[in-house]
Amino acid sequence: MTSTPPDLWPAHATSDGDGVLHVAGVDVRDLAERFGTPSFILDVAALRDRAARYRRALTGAFAQIGAEVEVYYASKAFLSTAVARWVHAEGLRIDTASLGELATAIRAGIPGADIGLHGNNKSDEEIELALRHGVGRLVIDSLPEIGRVARAAAALGVRAPVMVRVTTGVHAGGHDFIATAHEDQKFGLSLASGAARAALDEIVARPELELLGLHSHIGSQILEPEGFAAAARALLGLRAEFARDTGTELVELDLGGGFGIAYLPGERGMDIEPVAAELARVVAQECAALGASVPRLSFEPGRAIVGPTMFTLYRVGTVKPVTLDDGGRRLYVSVDGGMSDNIRTALYDAEYTAALVSRSSPAPAVLARVVGKHCESGDIVVREVALPADLRAGDLLATPATGAYGRSMASNYNLVPRPGVVAVGDGEPREIVRRETIDDVLALDVG
Ligand code: LLP
Repeated sequence: MTSTPPDLWPAHATSDGDGVLHVAGVDVRDLAERFGTPSFILDVAALRDRAARYRRALTGAFAQIGAEVEVYYASKAFLSTAVARWVHAEGLRIDTASLGELATAIRAGIPGADIGLHGNNKSDEEIELALRHGVGRLVIDSLPEIGRVARAAAALGVRAPVMVRVTTGVHAGGHDFIATAHEDQKFGLSLASGAARAALDEIVARPELELLGLHSHIGSQILEPEGFAAAARALLGLRAEFARDTGTELVELDLGGGFGIAYLPGERGMDIEPVAAELARVVAQECAALGASVPRLSFEPGRAIVGPTMFTLYRVGTVKPVTLDDGGRRLYVSVDGGMSDNIRTALYDAEYTAALVSRSSPAPAVLARVVGKHCESGDIVVREVALPADLRAGDLLATPATGAYGRSMASNYNLVPRPGVVAVGDGEPREIVRRETIDDVLALDVG
């Protein structure tokens, strides 16, 4: 490889004169040797810098209008105890959406007040653990959940801080599966139908619940600010209506996550600074128009924090030229992972790129497709990429921007062990999530 454009590759990735990729000064050939492939390679300083940058940009922009901001790291993107500690040390709180994420944040030592819990179908166990640990907020996602949380709080003798997730009708995001605020999907309480308002009325009538405010998450991989602004206006409208009717002005508004990143050469991720400034402007203007005070704000970026800070390191196996129907040719490059460590290509038609990272090549670039080792032809990691014609077994290939929803959506399809996550740039390179072994896989089979 010859270059590592910074929006695409981790900030401390560099390519040396021999075409070898280094991360924070560490040669990827050594990482492959030591930790095996496939592995997710995490640039720790890049992760911490992105977390700090998001916090700074959002708190800075909203300070201009006199509003406080909390940034929650949406841990579904990728979570381990080390990652929870790093982003928390940079001033972020942790947003969780399952027992596993919640338990991991707790094990990392994150104080309850700095954890949030989401979920459209929370289990009793999740609600109880959250309340026992004193989480800062539970985000209510349905009407029946209100009574369930209230009863759990009463049983534990605590008051549960809650927000209401509002379906604003805003449709945004990179793919329909990840757009979350239009009516015809499973999340939240509809603004249009009155369900969101009904939830607010029910919550304030329950002394076991403390109503903090309103929440909106419109979707994911969003590159423009308009959807967030529309959602902010919708939430502020509901907040003003509720204040008018009840005299209670809700203190907090959460505008969710969804900030997009670059996946291909030439693409740019969302620039958070101008977007934060624009959102602060919209919130101030809308509050002034409504005669309302400016609320406290929170955000939940996941992908934008961790996505660009990791890449997947694969070893090339079989290389096969294939003749296409139109007479053209495509090089099928099989790597030692596939849809079990990156399902996004198959699931969302997501586009990635890949580069040879263990040597330079004098060979011309040819049309290639990077595929995995799984037993289906949809097992594609990178649909279309130019790679050197002399690519051969043993070469190392890397796909950048796999930090978010790569390892976190990994599966054991074909009973393939899931890759580990190797942290680089924080002392000696080390696994923060261990690679699974065949023994791990077999250990689950108790039949
Ligand atoms: N907050 C809530 C309530 C969410 O549902 C999500 C993502 C986030 C925050 C963080 O969104 P982010 O900043 O990471 O875009 N598996 C899909 C993404 C699903 C996102 C689900 N919710 C993908 O690989 O694109």
